[in-house]
Amino acid sequence: MERTLAIIKPDAVERNLQGEIIRIIQQTGLRIVGMKMLRLSRSQAEGFYAVHRERPFFASLTEYMSSGPCVVMCLEGADAIRRYRELLGATNRDHAAEGTIRRIFALDVERNSCHGSDGPDTAAVEIAYFFSTLELVG
Ligand code: CMP
Repeated sequence: MERTLAIIKPDAVERNLQGEIIRIIQQTGLRIVGMKMLRLSRSQAEGFYAVHRERPFFASLTEYMSSGPCVVMCLEGADAIRRYRELLGATNRDHAAEGTIRRIFALDVERNSCHGSDGPDTAAVEIAYFFSTLELVG
């Protein structure tokens, strides 16, 4: 069993897409073992995306991620990290495969509707950023 962090980002929450996105995730068989809705402060968004702080899009990204509420989930399943990333599609919706969450819902490369951890080490750090052990109910 593996766990990954999923975020339904402000652009998707703003358009009331949480239910549709969660249904697509659950149809793959991945299970939600933690879920909360929150609005990140600017500094919390900067902390979450600290690995990107030298990127030209960092200021815009953290402003957008703190512009409205997100839904944050911990997903569990066999090979969860890879399966969820495959479901998300490429970061840039224009390069994402047909039928993927970003291809269907993303507005542009920044407002790309959902986030997913990119590997086991990142997943552990990202899950711990939002959830205590007691909040995960696998
Ligand atoms: P995510 O998978 O959450 O990881 C980093 C985020 O930065 C990414 O999704 C996008 O929201 C954003 N991002 C990545 N590349 C770019 C880019 N070239 N321009 C603007 N935003 C980007």
